[in-house]
Amino acid sequence: MSLRYKIRSTTDMQRQNQSSVVDFILLGFSNFPELQGQLFGIFLVIYLVTLVGNAVIILIISLEQSLHVPMYLFLQNLSVVDVSISAVITPEMLVVLSTEKTSISFVRCFAQMYFILFFGGTECFLLGAMAYDRFAAICHPLSYPMLMNQRVFMKLVICSWALGFMLGTVQTSWVFSFPFCGPNEINHISCETPAVLELACADTFLFEVYAFTGTVLIIMVPFLLILLSYLRILLAILKMPPTTGRQKAFSTCGSHLTSVTLFYGTASMTYLQPKSGYSPDTKKLLSLAYSLLTPLLNPLIYSLRNSEKADLHTF
Ligand SMILES: *[C@@H]1O[C@H](CO)[C@@H](O)[C@H](O)[C@H]1NC(C)=O
Repeated sequence: MSLRYKIRSTTDMQRQNQSSVVDFILLGFSNFPELQGQLFGIFLVIYLVTLVGNAVIILIISLEQSLHVPMYLFLQNLSVVDVSISAVITPEMLVVLSTEKTSISFVRCFAQMYFILFFGGTECFLLGAMAYDRFAAICHPLSYPMLMNQRVFMKLVICSWALGFMLGTVQTSWVFSFPFCGPNEINHISCETPAVLELACADTFLFEVYAFTGTVLIIMVPFLLILLSYLRILLAILKMPPTTGRQKAFSTCGSHLTSVTLFYGTASMTYLQPKSGYSPDTKKLLSLAYSLLTPLLNPLIYSLRNSEKADLHTF
């Protein structure tokens, strides 16, 4: 255990006050000082491309009446979520990369964790709802208008946001109810749950049980449903006559599965066991995959696939 306690308050009296950490320090990639410049450039470009890509999708879908069908309205919501996740994580990370030691106040750390969980949870459910929508459209085209009507659609969208909201509220309040008595260095790129939990000086066993259960419900269940629905979609494609663009359907399914697996896989590795034995560097890479790469790739992957059958289903 590191003895580099960086408690602001040093008097004995204050030391007895358990929550004596006033702010945290985000370390980011400070163990690679020679890479900071390159990383700054790479993340800045990724951030800008993510913003522009998703903004274009949001704009086109809201302007184009013919795109007001579930598939695209889900995608529009997904783009809002992706922009938000990037905006919560990346600017802070750019600041961390461009300064020596970045302190982040308790409140800002709380807010960052809250919004990461809020938007991340919403993304989990939205991706699940989108897979269900495609499954219904491709495998049950005749009953599609019944399976995915305006009411079902609105329910799915509202549920996604509500569950994200609940996840953020419950988990963030719980993590920040633990006492923090130092050290205050967060060896991560953002105030994510596992990294902050490391610093709690209390028994977090119950929380870890909750985190495991919650992650199974929020990440693994939607992920399994998505895998199942893509399996059914693949089987449906196999039954199509070979001339009807099977190749293309396969490659779009493949790219979806890749991005979905990247997102759910890395997120579940991080959140199933918040105090897992992965090294901080591994955790940073995992976090980059779901918080930077997914928002960057989603607009590309989902709008490419969609351009083939834009006219499919209206309400
Ligand atoms: C999500 O989609 C619904 C339905 O189109 C829309 O009313 C809502 O504004 C969208 N939410 C966001 C945050 O864009």
